[in-house]
Amino acid sequence: MGEFLSHNIGFDLVRATEYTALKVGRWLGLGNASEAHRVACEAMSRALSEVSMRGQIVIGEEGRLGGRSALDSGQPVGTGRGPEVDVIVDPIDGTASVVHGRPGAISVVAVAPRGSMWSPNPAAIYMDKIVVDVEAAESLVPECMDAPVGWTLALVARAKKKPVRDLQVIVLDRPRHFDLIEEIRSAGARVLLRSDGDTVGALIAATPNVGADVLMGIGGVPEGVTAACAVKAMGGAMLCRLAPQSQQEREAIEAAGIDTKLILNCDDMVRSNEIFLAATGITHGQLLDAVRYRGREAQTHSLLIRSETGTRRMIRAEHVLDENGSGRD
Ligand code: FBP
Repeated sequence: MGEFLSHNIGFDLVRATEYTALKVGRWLGLGNASEAHRVACEAMSRALSEVSMRGQIVIGEEGRLGGRSALDSGQPVGTGRGPEVDVIVDPIDGTASVVHGRPGAISVVAVAPRGSMWSPNPAAIYMDKIVVDVEAAESLVPECMDAPVGWTLALVARAKKKPVRDLQVIVLDRPRHFDLIEEIRSAGARVLLRSDGDTVGALIAATPNVGADVLMGIGGVPEGVTAACAVKAMGGAMLCRLAPQSQQEREAIEAAGIDTKLILNCDDMVRSNEIFLAATGITHGQLLDAVRYRGREAQTHSLLIRSETGTRRMIRAEHVLDENGSGRD
């Protein structure tokens, strides 16, 4: 057993997402997205600095904080000892959900051996994604990316041994998805619109029996790579392709020499089977409960996935808070 495998680094990662969720949960419903994001980044970066790893951020938070931050792409993270790993981190997936008090926001981080995570950074922002769980994994063929949506849903339905009308498809509620939503409905399946958070949307679609069968549509590239870590670790399947949403993004991708026609699967996005992913609920969701505070105590609900062993742990933790009522440093 190698250095990377001998220690389940996932437990250290879960402490980082718990800590971040405990800090940022205090910003629930306060309407201040930039402060919530700043607090989350500071918490995540502080927590990761204590994880025994020689980590490097693959796709970071640059630009989001109006300057350079410790979670920018290429930044080293961890203690500087331990395994050399790629790190992808989203201190909050669903910032708007947190500050508007809506469900489904999580804090998430994943690691895999150095050099294994794909990155079109910084040129690409958006990508098109389809995610299914292990039961339907075989049905997701590259043709699904360009085929009529009904064709793909029929394959998924057949694999899951249920009629198309019983399929539930998660889609981000965005004007760019108007046609996609119409196509899903015309095929007879049901649409679960999310205001935010397609990493957690992918996690739900890739987890059997939590109420969704497929995730479809265009979301962020970092969220795509994070989702690929989770989907691969759970044996599901994912197809992705860059989907630039502006002329500027199109030109940046072209200048970087990246092929926008390329269809990627989980193995292209994470070229390793040694993946650890941790996520903690910030606001209540289908998969993870919200952070709950009571005086000097709080509860968190987290998910820890390890691809090598296929272990998926759901972790409920009780925390004693500091005098300010947030997670202990
Ligand atoms: P943030 O919490 O980082 O703002 O991301 C939320 C999110 O919904 C992602 O899950 C998704 O991939 C992306 O934004 C979609 O981008 P847009 O809101 O521009 O459609």
